[in-house]
Amino acid sequence: MNPIPAAKIVIPEEDRKAILARIDESLKTGALTLGKNGKEFEADFAKLVGTKHAVAVNSGTSSIEIPLRVLGVAGKEVVVPTNTFFATAAGVVHAGGVPRFADIDARTLALTLESVKKAVTPKTAGVVMVHIAGLVSPETPKIAEFCKAKGLFFFEDAAHAHGSSLNGRMAGTFGAAASFSFYPTKVITSAEGGMIVTDSDDIAAQALQYRDQGKEGFLTNFHVRMGYNWRMSELHAAVGVFQLKRLAEFMRERNRVASEYQRRLKGLEGLTLLTPPAGSVCNYYKVVALLDRGLDRASVKKELKERFAVSLSGEVYDTPLHKQPVFQEYARGKFPVADDVCARHVCLPVFPGMSDEQVAQVVTGLEQVLAARKVAS
Ligand SMILES: Cc1ncc(COP(=O)(O)O)c(C=O)c1O
Repeated sequence: MNPIPAAKIVIPEEDRKAILARIDESLKTGALTLGKNGKEFEADFAKLVGTKHAVAVNSGTSSIEIPLRVLGVAGKEVVVPTNTFFATAAGVVHAGGVPRFADIDARTLALTLESVKKAVTPKTAGVVMVHIAGLVSPETPKIAEFCKAKGLFFFEDAAHAHGSSLNGRMAGTFGAAASFSFYPTKVITSAEGGMIVTDSDDIAAQALQYRDQGKEGFLTNFHVRMGYNWRMSELHAAVGVFQLKRLAEFMRERNRVASEYQRRLKGLEGLTLLTPPAGSVCNYYKVVALLDRGLDRASVKKELKERFAVSLSGEVYDTPLHKQPVFQEYARGKFPVADDVCARHVCLPVFPGMSDEQVAQVVTGLEQVLAARKVAS
């Protein structure tokens, strides 16, 4: 039995050659940061999402913090789902705001209009929606509308959602601005990196200043904002440019694998696959499944690995933010749905080029591991 990895970073040989040529050119010319690769990556990404602007930065985390600084969260509360990555709430804190956690819907792993309404207070500045696993919830436009009516900003942490959409509307276009991550495990990578997208000339102009030490302009030494070094190097941008060209292909591949799982795991007792709602195109950053209550996730994962050579990836996420030690001062309220979902979901292996045989190996493993537990219970 060949081992099935949880994920695989795919940079085809012809792309590696093209990337190396770009890197060689950068090394030769000394154009190592804020140059033509970065500009090309930004232009291509803005085109993909359909926004007027895209600003490349050094991480997904800074692509959250910068726009939140521009949107003005200092001293105010920002609603974030509790089942997200550390950086969503850390971005709020770094920008001077106070994260206010909210619960989610188990079918979409995302905030709902109802959970947002419960979390909003007179101190709220805005809401951060996270498209967990690459799935854009139908609640997204409803929450965006609600924010508009209440004078709150709506921001998308689209770190998982490159290329995902809802009813033809791309992730990243529902609010004032959005962030993306190109961390290696993401659907496309630049090794490290992030992208801010927005239609607002003002947000884009401020973001350009923030990412470069708050300088008024690239060639000046006149600092007008409390910026930082959040620049993306030309070497990283070169990787991003060629990965972005693969996005449509990678999404097709991930959708093929997800469909195969849907077909083969239908009716399997003990496990329910998350299905994207009608009208949504999911990039399947993760293929998420809920284990029945009472099944021990750690032991299911261990047995899959030991007996079937199948590795499941890390969860999205196993410890909700209100239970993270670092966020204890913000942990107010109860989040029963997130607690439940965080405790019992798994993420099945998915990567471009995953063969039907590899999917079959995962399916067989799941069938046998879960059947044994049914007999035992
Ligand atoms: C939901 C979410 N937000 C933000 C980030 C931060 O991105 P990065 O690791 O590129 O800083 C990540 C990923 O790592 C993420 O999954």
